[in-house]
Amino acid sequence: MRTVEWCDGALKMIDQRALPWKLEFVRLESVEAVAESIRDMTVRGAPAIGAAAAFGLALAARKSETDTIDALISDLRKSGDLLKAARPTAVNLAWAVEKLLDIATSGEFSHPDDLRQILLAAAQQIADDDVAINSRMGAHGAALVNDGATVLHHCNTGALATVDYGTALGVIRAAFEAGKHFHVLLDETRPRLQGSRLSAWELERLGVSYDIIPDTAAGYYMGEGEVDIILVGADRIAANGDFANKIGTYQLAIMAQAHGIPFYTVAPTSTIDLSLSAGKQIPIEQRDPAEVTTPYGNKIVPARFKARNPAFDVTPHRYLSGIVTENGIARPPFAESLQRAVAGDVL
Ligand code: MRU
Repeated sequence: MRTVEWCDGALKMIDQRALPWKLEFVRLESVEAVAESIRDMTVRGAPAIGAAAAFGLALAARKSETDTIDALISDLRKSGDLLKAARPTAVNLAWAVEKLLDIATSGEFSHPDDLRQILLAAAQQIADDDVAINSRMGAHGAALVNDGATVLHHCNTGALATVDYGTALGVIRAAFEAGKHFHVLLDETRPRLQGSRLSAWELERLGVSYDIIPDTAAGYYMGEGEVDIILVGADRIAANGDFANKIGTYQLAIMAQAHGIPFYTVAPTSTIDLSLSAGKQIPIEQRDPAEVTTPYGNKIVPARFKARNPAFDVTPHRYLSGIVTENGIARPPFAESLQRAVAGDVL
């Protein structure tokens, strides 16, 4: 089952807001609806929003009634800006939009209908590649998970956060499918609860042993010697290896170093942004404070109480043991190994 897929002229996606209670699907037929579904986190996770945006642009091309290539390109640029503005941190979204716009502006198409067809095929290719890339990352990363280990995981990085299979959770899945026995501690991941709602749902279905823990308990379990390795995803990795990921990742990385626990991020090379030299340049999305004060409609405090809600933080590369990519595991110095990973070298 794919999280994001093209189905009978529309984008079909799992509604991640309804899980784990209900497995529901949405069917989107316009680029505006796709942008909104990214903003409201019907679909979330860096690779999944990249694929959704690609299909969103293909929808924009189909809906545009223009009959010249130039007018179509102009519509596509506007739609691309709309999609990119939906969520700023995960570079996969901008990466997918730019990939399709590069095709549109390549000068190779003289008829709008040819371009419409090619853009849909390109979006489909991004989705198919994502599944293949995740399975390669799983194969590279599975060796990091030892039999009998306890793995700590943050947020949701599984099939739901990608087109299928997953990144950090994909490594966990690959280790499980290789017959290893281990246990996973899932940070609940406040305020959107991607760990307790989504990662637990995925591990339940796979049959992997897990416990949900409060985010604030991670240090306790590290101090007790119960955590052998930490695996997380990434939304954007700068050229020096600093990376943005779900809020709370930075504090996990510091605690991991204090306890001598290996700390890895798992991400496709489309998450690496070589145009940024360091993590400080990564834009951090600030979400509605109501997600903190009234999560999923549950009024925890009066609406007038003040809150802040940064969706991501940046972890400096010095805390990272390695970055698992589809081309192998990048190790320090990351400035060099990431260049090679992006160039397609086998690490
Ligand atoms: O706000 P979200 O749920 O989109 O954040 C997701 C994460 O931070 C993931 O770790 C990241 O996108 C990698 S998912 C394969």
